Amino acid sequence: MTTVLETPDAVTLTDDPTWWRQAAVYQIYPRSFADSDGDGVGDLRGVTAKVPYLRELGVDAVWLSPFYPSALADGGYDVDDYRDVDPRLGTLADFDEMVAALHAAGLRVVVDLVPNHTSDRHAWFREALASPKGSAARARYLFRDGLGEHGELPPSDWTSTFGGPGWEPVGDGQWYMHFFAKEQPDLDWTNPEVREDFLATLRFWSDRGVDGFRVDVAHGLVKDVAADAADLPTQAELDARTTLDGQHPLWDRDEVHEVYAGWRAVFEEYRPARTAVAEAWVAPTRRARYASSAGLGQAFNFDLLEADPDARSFREIISRNLRAAEESGSSTTWVFSNHDVVRHATRYGLPPRGDDTTKAGTAWLLSGGAEPVVDVARGLRLARAATLAMLALPGSAYLYQGEELGLQEVPDIPHAERQDPSYFRNPGVDAGRDGCRVPLPWTTSGPSHGFGEAGAHLPQPAWFAAYAVEAQDGDPASTLTLYRRALALRHELQTGERLEWLEVDGAGGAGADVLAFERPNGWRVVLNLGSGAVDLPGSEVLLASGPLGADGRLPGETAVWLRA
Ligand code: NOJ
Repeated sequence: MTTVLETPDAVTLTDDPTWWRQAAVYQIYPRSFADSDGDGVGDLRGVTAKVPYLRELGVDAVWLSPFYPSALADGGYDVDDYRDVDPRLGTLADFDEMVAALHAAGLRVVVDLVPNHTSDRHAWFREALASPKGSAARARYLFRDGLGEHGELPPSDWTSTFGGPGWEPVGDGQWYMHFFAKEQPDLDWTNPEVREDFLATLRFWSDRGVDGFRVDVAHGLVKDVAADAADLPTQAELDARTTLDGQHPLWDRDEVHEVYAGWRAVFEEYRPARTAVAEAWVAPTRRARYASSAGLGQAFNFDLLEADPDARSFREIISRNLRAAEESGSSTTWVFSNHDVVRHATRYGLPPRGDDTTKAGTAWLLSGGAEPVVDVARGLRLARAATLAMLALPGSAYLYQGEELGLQEVPDIPHAERQDPSYFRNPGVDAGRDGCRVPLPWTTSGPSHGFGEAGAHLPQPAWFAAYAVEAQDGDPASTLTLYRRALALRHELQTGERLEWLEVDGAGGAGADVLAFERPNGWRVVLNLGSGAVDLPGSEVLLASGPLGADGRLPGETAVWLRA
């Protein structure tokens, strides 16, 4: 029988099971947010201390990237124990205190769940290494015999997503598979014990008052990895295989949805039902099952994040995702920045990619070689404009810590201070993700710009001072003020999950660079991504991302919220 558990603080937060549909969710990368004990690493007490800041910012929820015990082979996405807090970040008591403080401030809490792989220090993996081939302990992972007379060759030529081989030998002729770093062995999700254990983890955090889960690599859990290395496809065969039929050996297999149906049953044991958002890098047409109310309920849509700031592509992406949301019954999710990509204030300041496909990754990860010159002012202007428009779209908005400060990527972290495995596994090619994970500047001076009493685990450049909360607080023109106003107004204006496109006139064909829409209550939004000014389709200006022209028109690289 299903037990319905009461959320202890239902007094301050409603039981509304749809709270997430149009929520603004702020992603905290805990090690880089606020450091309460001066060890250079952000922690949970640091988050608690900043609850007033988060409340004033006006977000509805926070999502915490992993804070679990970890050797940090992949920034915490290598989890040693799913039901504990890393001692450097605090204790379970600190976690409870943080959740209570966030809830008391009216903020929901989403935690990151990393089910595809454990770390190599997880008790299960240690047991697997200490156990013989064929044991139940090894069957929780994807161990296979190597090729060659003594298994000295990998079972296949598969590569890891971070670069380098996707198999690691353990010294007895067996190898284990890893999608990511070698310190992140993949679990075997066809094993019922693995499935059961994660249900216990979902309950563990849900019982502690967590409102939802962000599910890492949600499309990769269940794999069809032949028992015999001779039957494994080559990497080229894998790459040539479609991922659109639910039958690819490694990605987006239909069986993964059985797992999420089981999770859904757990979510529904709680009131309000726990929520989840899938990090599933699948084709847009394949997101609906992850977002279904019989599954995780919502799925990230990274389409805007991957696109150049171009009105036609933005409009096509928005229309497509709103249609998809309507079909799945979920709401869509908008994201420009997160802990895996170059901050959008920097991306938008990069030279245009044009048709040069070799630059396909440039907008994501600055190449480790010659750095393109970033036009910082333009990047920030476009980021402010695009974000203001995004915050008015139907659906949920995911914001990444620091973007409310207009923070730029830090491209030039010295080699010796780098942490990200994607940097180390792709020498000279990939600048990795450390540049968006540098601890936040809270104050204009002090040892780590107010991040903590001492230094910061990734070095902050001197120019961080200008972006500090202290420098922006109270400044009507600052990016922080823009986010605060936008989030406050968004609460007032929020309405049905639909929009109508508007046509806007612009001199010299500027209209083609413009995106304009209206929500059901008359909330109008214009985003001008071109350089020429356009007319405003309304008289009451509610908020603008930059100054309007003296003639009252909307200049290029600016967005505005209006009422007709
Ligand atoms: C996606 C996470 O966002 C990323 O940071 C991590 O490296 C991989 N999944 C592996 O867990």
